[in-house]
Amino acid sequence: MSRPVKIAPSLLAADFARLGEEIAAVEAAGADWLHLDIMDGHFVPNISYGPAVVKALRPHTRMPFDVHLMIAPVDGLLPAFADAGAQRISLHPEAGPHLHRSLQNIRALGCSPGVVLNPATPASVVEPVLDLVDLILVMTVNPGFGGQKFIHSQLPKMRALRRMIDASGREIALQVDGGVTAETAPLCLEAGADVLVAGTAVFGAPDYAAAIAALRMGRA
Ligand code: DX5
Ligand code: ZN
Repeated sequence: MSRPVKIAPSLLAADFARLGEEIAAVEAAGADWLHLDIMDGHFVPNISYGPAVVKALRPHTRMPFDVHLMIAPVDGLLPAFADAGAQRISLHPEAGPHLHRSLQNIRALGCSPGVVLNPATPASVVEPVLDLVDLILVMTVNPGFGGQKFIHSQLPKMRALRRMIDASGREIALQVDGGVTAETAPLCLEAGADVLVAGTAVFGAPDYAAAIAALRMGRA
């Protein structure tokens, strides 16, 4: 079984005083997407950065912007992230009252919709919106912080989602985020993930290219 693996470094672990340079460095090192974690200090207990920063970064790279929204309520801010240049926007079902409508709104803004499952959120939440999403993100930490420990109990959920995606016949990326390292990446790939988000494992490494290659080679 071999499907191409994409690596999406999470900017949360970058040097915030040198974001433009950091983005250029991971792009040159072989990254596929840039993962942008948006935190509001309310939906998650941490604050990161908002649409103005995303917009300022857009001219600094050709990598697709993969925006992971951890904000509530989420709907009113979707246009700001589309306008900032996001290609992909993913949100948590818990962040608004109408998941189906929110995903439709992302598509209507010209972006690619994704749904994010917290460790305690079951795979079945995705079933009624499978026709609307281009990406499913399995959180392998509780969202809010980088550098946390990978939660192994999420692997069966990843396998179940891989089966659900394959049965749907649709092209849906299966992404994993949280504690992804050269050690845990092979487990995720074996469970059917095809996009690996990694913050600390990339930006915390002395050699970004070697770190990205190590994640990619973890493939089962
Ligand atoms: C956590 C974020 C992650 C985070 C991952 O809420 O969604 O994207 O940056 O960081 P690492 O790879 O260090 O676990
Ligand atoms: Zn994330």
